[in-house]
Amino acid sequence: MIRIGIILGSTRPGRNGEAVARWVHDIARTRSDADYELVDIQDFHLPLLDEPVPPSRGQYSHEHTKRWAAKIASFDAFVFVTPEYNHGTSAALKNAIDFLYAEWNNKAAGFVSYGSAGGARAVESLRLVMGELMVADVRQQVLLSLFTDFENFSKFKPAAMHEQSLHTMLDQVVKWGTALREVRQPQQRTAAPQNARQTAASSA
Ligand SMILES: Cc1cc2nc3c(=O)[nH]c(=O)nc-3n(C[C@H](O)[C@H](O)[C@H](O)COP(=O)(O)O)c2cc1C
Repeated sequence: MIRIGIILGSTRPGRNGEAVARWVHDIARTRSDADYELVDIQDFHLPLLDEPVPPSRGQYSHEHTKRWAAKIASFDAFVFVTPEYNHGTSAALKNAIDFLYAEWNNKAAGFVSYGSAGGARAVESLRLVMGELMVADVRQQVLLSLFTDFENFSKFKPAAMHEQSLHTMLDQVVKWGTALREVRQPQQRTAAPQNARQTAASSA
C-alpha cells in the first residue's frame, strides 16, 4: 500500500487550515487504498531556507532539513492543504517545499484549498511549482469557500458535496502515486530483462 502525506500548509495562530486538514485526514482514513498521515509543517520548525547548497544537490547540512527530508521521503504521494494568501500559497508552505528536491520527485499530489475564491489561485501557482519538482498533480481538487464552508469565516462546516470531491481526488492521487512507484525504482524495473540476458548469455 502506498503512503500519502496530508501536508497542512498554514502555520498562522488561529489557522483554519488545521480543521480542514483534520477533515481530510478523517475521511481519508476511512479508505483502505493507502496509508494516510497528517503532516503539520509547523512541527518541523523550519526557518526561512538556510541551506547553503541548492536542495537539488541533496547535501543537507541542518538537522531540521534532514528530519523534514526523511518525513517527505517516506511518502509516495501528497495532499497539500493550502490557504490562499495574496493569490498564492502560504510562505510557510512554499518555504517547506523549497527546502527539498529529490524527496518530492516522481510522486503524485492533489490539493485541498480554501479562500474567498476557494483558494483556486493558490493552487494554480502551486501547480507551476509542482512541475519544477517533477510532481504529478492530479486534476481533481477540493475548493472550499470561506463564505459557504466556514461559519463567520472561521468555523469549518464544509458543504456535503465536498466529501465526494475529496474521494475523487484521492482516487486519482492513489492511482498516480501507485503508478509512479515504478519510475522511482528503475533498478527493479530493469532487473528482469538484465537477468534474462544474463541467463541467455550463460546458456549460450
Ligand atoms: C496574509 C493574508 C493574505 C490573504 N490573501 C487572500 C487572498 O488573496 N485571497 C483569498 O481568497 N483569501 C485571502 N486571505 C484570507 C485567507 O484565505 C483566510 O484567512 C484563510 O483562513 C487563511 O488560512 P489559515 O487560516 O489556515 O491561515 C488572506 C489571509 C491572509 C492572512
